[in-house]
Amino acid sequence: MTERLDHFIGGEYVAPAEGAYFASTNPATLDTLYEAARGTEPDVRRAVAAARSAFESPSWAGLTATRRGHLLRRLGDVIGEHADELAMLESLDNGKLLREMRGQMRALPEYYYYYAGLADKVQGSQIPAASLDILNYTQREPLGVVGTITPWNSPLTLTTSKIAPALAAGNTVVIKPSEYTSRTILRLAELADEAGFPAGVVNVVTGFGAEAGAPLVSHPDLAKISFTGSTATGSRIAAEAASRFIGCTLELGGKSPNIVFEDANVENAAMGVIAGIYAAGGQTCIAGSRVFAHRAVYDELLERVTERAGSIRIGDPLVETTELGPLAFEDQLEKVDSYVRLGASEGATVHAGGARPEGIDLPGYYYAPTVLTDVHNDMRVVREEIFGPVAAIMPFEHEDELVGLANDTEYGLAAGIWTQNLARAHRLARRIDAGTIWVNTYRAMSPMSPRQGFKHSGVGIEHGIESIYEYTRLKSVWINTDEGPVADPFVMRG
Ligand code: NAI
Ligand code: MG
Repeated sequence: MTERLDHFIGGEYVAPAEGAYFASTNPATLDTLYEAARGTEPDVRRAVAAARSAFESPSWAGLTATRRGHLLRRLGDVIGEHADELAMLESLDNGKLLREMRGQMRALPEYYYYYAGLADKVQGSQIPAASLDILNYTQREPLGVVGTITPWNSPLTLTTSKIAPALAAGNTVVIKPSEYTSRTILRLAELADEAGFPAGVVNVVTGFGAEAGAPLVSHPDLAKISFTGSTATGSRIAAEAASRFIGCTLELGGKSPNIVFEDANVENAAMGVIAGIYAAGGQTCIAGSRVFAHRAVYDELLERVTERAGSIRIGDPLVETTELGPLAFEDQLEKVDSYVRLGASEGATVHAGGARPEGIDLPGYYYAPTVLTDVHNDMRVVREEIFGPVAAIMPFEHEDELVGLANDTEYGLAAGIWTQNLARAHRLARRIDAGTIWVNTYRAMSPMSPRQGFKHSGVGIEHGIESIYEYTRLKSVWINTDEGPVADPFVMRG
């Protein structure tokens, strides 16, 4: 019988109120992996109540920031001990390379260590007031129950980017993972329990967006929502959050430019283009899906990228030498393929790929690395996020023209710049309208480095010192140190 996973609420596994479960599939083999609880509003209510009560309990609220840091550090250790197991579970669930997930899992403890160290460095300040008799200081407080909603492409990493700072700041969390990848998030809650977090500090309700995600966002006791996923869902969540005046941090879609200048090391740039769009099958918010190549190197770059794309080893994500696994689920495959067909109908040339690859002995949702040429900024394949291994490669002639083309997008998540010219690198870093700029590299990420989506790519900051403030509120305390008579009750000022 298929294994069944329940919600994790208040430190224990809890069956879904309505008794329903849904299957999660291995996208490479199409085997059913397990069934997860199909969460609905009563489950969400129970989880938020558990998180609220933990937020107020002495076992959590009574901890010093340093003690919270110890717990986060323990969690980092425990995750490190289980890194290979977690990598395997994620790879089975979303089809990404075991090799990549292992790399992610081994880096994951660093996020917990980083915020463990930051927990007791969140400080207020003393404000120079207008009167010497007034002591005015600020303090940063946790918000309360933070809801996190995350996608399937890097489940644990994207969830960690939210809960590590949220917990370090003293909040409690209710996590609603993607319906495609519930398992490792439930393991995360177990590991938090093992690390010594009090019951109710980390809760997980599994299920679908409309059934479990929406009631979480609209729960009156939720103090903040932190979301990563599509821009369309992010917009709905932001509207709901606005109607209740709670904050939201949103990490949304992208259509990032990867720009190759005539003075670039073209061989490295071609590898950067491959890394940007074919690693993870392009199923990443930071995918470098719009490639701009200077006319002088356009042919060479196109040839190098096409050649390497054609030799990408497609297959079982668990096999060490595989370079491209399947897309994560059937709709994703259909979406990618329909975009490629749309591009062709808009006049694009399918220069490479554009179909399911041949010779794969697994039945999963595979799609060949695809190169589109004869494309321009008016086409939907250049404007909309495809979230698959589809690169649109376009030539340009002048830097000013390039800046116009690169910035002509509703997104602003990331950009790659390939050049050997130092002045140009810094100039472009300033002129490109994106929250992360990579020069002569791509897809680099660190818990220390803040990232923010500009324009429709997001709201708020993840990673770095800044992101912990997203999970705090600032209080200003005024103390009158003058015990003498109040001179004029109608004019009390600082
Ligand atoms: P999605 O944005 O709809 O889902 C992400 C998360 O939000 C999931 O946990 C989902 O259950 C939840 N959710 C969905 N509707 C909700 C609602 N009304 N209220 C609260 N929570 C809700 O993305 P999905 O369905 O996983 O993928 C669809 C497409 O979105 C992909 O093909 C891709 O283009 C894009 N996407 C982009 C991501 C990025 O990082 N840029 C990440 C995930 C998806
Ligand atoms: Mg799955």
